[in-house]
Amino acid sequence: MSEVLRAKEVDLLYGETPAVRKAEISLRRGEVAAITGQSGSGKSSLLYCLAGVLPVARGEVRFEGRSLGELDDEELSELRRERFGFVFQYGELLPELTVEENTALPLRLAGRRKKEALDAASEVLERLGLADLRQRRPSQVSGGQSQRVAVARALVHKPAVVFADEPTGSLDSANATAVLEEFLTLARSQGTAVVLVTHDSQVAARADSRYTMCDGTLTAQMREVS
Ligand SMILES: Nc1ncnc2c1ncn2[C@@H]1O[C@H](COP(=O)(O)OP(=O)(O)O)[C@@H](O)[C@H]1O
Ligand SMILES: [Mg+2]
Repeated sequence: MSEVLRAKEVDLLYGETPAVRKAEISLRRGEVAAITGQSGSGKSSLLYCLAGVLPVARGEVRFEGRSLGELDDEELSELRRERFGFVFQYGELLPELTVEENTALPLRLAGRRKKEALDAASEVLERLGLADLRQRRPSQVSGGQSQRVAVARALVHKPAVVFADEPTGSLDSANATAVLEEFLTLARSQGTAVVLVTHDSQVAARADSRYTMCDGTLTAQMREVS
């Protein structure tokens, strides 16, 4: 199957201090890779490298065969905006926009017309069981619902890769499991690969491949052969 993202011997430094050491990871289309590890082990730092948010000190990250190090700032931000999606621990919705407008945001930023963007947002909200909440503001929905909206927003533009940094870390475990299940099902159905950082081993068990991070060193635990 086709590889979308690959990191080769990636080092990341904060000043002189290494946060990621010789990281190797590869994702195919629609593949879900879970990364677990203790707080401070370098999981978020690794995501920043993979997503082209922070430059690597050594090694390289390739997206669809192209090294991120060869892209200028404008190309990198276009890549992040149009081909990548992001979900964070608290969802981070914009309070002044409705659920539907929040979801449509990546398409609006990519220059799509309002009607087209809102229609696509409605469709993905419906698939996540959120159609009734379309006109509400983030302050009028529950924590679990707002995390689902964040998932909808990360997937609405059918990105190649979604980077999810403890996306259900603020939810109770029943809600976390449900949100994650819906997230991964939808991502897989549209061929979106997911790099999923989590501290929950049950959550990691739903991934196609699993890695652990310890003191900046990433170790592959398991890869399903297909
Ligand atoms: N901006 C930064 N500047 C300096 N050190 C940082 C910065 N961000 C994170 N670190 C350090 O890098 C290490 C890895 O952090 P992080 O990637 O956030 O770990 P995790 O996401 O696994 O909790 C930690 O020791 C942390 O203190
Ligand atoms: Mg982190």
